[in-house]
Amino acid sequence: KAAMDAGLLLPSSPSVILTQDDLKKIAAYKAVEYVESGMVLGLGTGSTAKHAVDRIGELLHQGKLKDIVGIPTSKKTHEQALSLGIPLSDLNSHPVVDLAIDGADEVDPFLNLVKGRGGSLLREKMVESACKKFIVIVDESKLVKYLGGSGLAMPVEVIQFSWRFTAERLRRLFEDAGCVAKLRTFGEKEEPFVTDNGNFIVDLYFDRSIGDLKAASEAILHLAGVVEHGMFLDMATAVIVAGELGLTMKIK
Ligand code: 5RP
Repeated sequence: KAAMDAGLLLPSSPSVILTQDDLKKIAAYKAVEYVESGMVLGLGTGSTAKHAVDRIGELLHQGKLKDIVGIPTSKKTHEQALSLGIPLSDLNSHPVVDLAIDGADEVDPFLNLVKGRGGSLLREKMVESACKKFIVIVDESKLVKYLGGSGLAMPVEVIQFSWRFTAERLRRLFEDAGCVAKLRTFGEKEEPFVTDNGNFIVDLYFDRSIGDLKAASEAILHLAGVVEHGMFLDMATAVIVAGELGLTMKIK
């Protein structure tokens, strides 16, 4: 159990029931084994990445990691890393990131990702496209046959000005895939969710595959009013998947 808690082992006994959070922690701890002293690290956002950031802080305090610099991908991760005493920087000062570790909402068989259900896709994409290696950490529920295939949201960050107009243009782009476009809201009053960058998020839902992902990406980015989308194509170096039967590492 101690080794499991440290993310080093999966239980050999089927009677030990792992929660989804246990699986996230196991994947996160495994990824942190690839962190070396002196690295510039991209620090991801979300409930899985949080475990990785906690572990990095722990190793730093134990003196097992030295001279780490972290580049957080959200205000939330910035606060977490600060509270753990992880030295922080940004892409202006450290334009090359050695390794980023982050979660994902969907992973397809080619290691393309959907990210951003936590709302941090823009900073995540900036940091993770600047890194030499990008390790994605997920539990097995995130594996999909095709992006959009979970039936959950594919997020697009848009500027607030005339967001309805942008949402409608996004919906029309993917009409053939049965697209529904919804403004992301929170709370009982359904107030618009505002990103760390002061933008809104339009979540896209599909009935069917959107087909050529590269073409879809280009079409979305071509729309005025769109800041970034949550498809991370060809970016992951490796994906660590924790499931009931063990850990798998998928490498590009
Ligand atoms: C936040 C993200 C997260 O990495 C993604 O939503 C996965 O989150 P979690 O680890 O909580 O399942 O992209 O913008």
